[in-house]
Amino acid sequence: MERTLSIIKPDGVAKGLIGEVIKRFEKNGLKIVAMKMIYISKKEAEWFYAVHRGKNFFDSVTDFMSSGPCVVMVLEGPKAITKNRELMGATNPKDAAPGTIRREFASSIERNIVHGSDAPETAAFEIGYFFNALEICG
Ligand code: CMP
Repeated sequence: MERTLSIIKPDGVAKGLIGEVIKRFEKNGLKIVAMKMIYISKKEAEWFYAVHRGKNFFDSVTDFMSSGPCVVMVLEGPKAITKNRELMGATNPKDAAPGTIRREFASSIERNIVHGSDAPETAAFEIGYFFNALEICG
């Protein structure tokens, strides 16, 4: 069993895709063990994406992430990190496989509907960033 963090980004929420994304997770063996809708501040987005500080998209992506509500979730299941990344598709929707969330719904590499942790260490950091132990119903 593994856990990963998923975020439905402001574009996903604005496009009414919360149910669509959750349906794909649940149909594919990913159980939601924590979930909330929140506004992420610019400062919180900067901490969350700290590994990207200094890159040319850092300011823009942190503006975007704080531009509207997000849904943050902890997903649990066998190989949850890889499974979630398969369902999302590549970061750039142009490179994402047909049938993936980003290929079907994303409008650009920045406005790409969902975020998912990329490794066990990042999952641990990202889950702890948004949830405390009492909020996770595993
Ligand atoms: P995400 O998987 O949430 O991780 C970092 C985010 O930065 C990425 O999705 C995109 O939304 C955004 N981004 C914007 N431009 C780029 C880029 N050139 N390369 C990677 N990520 C980018």
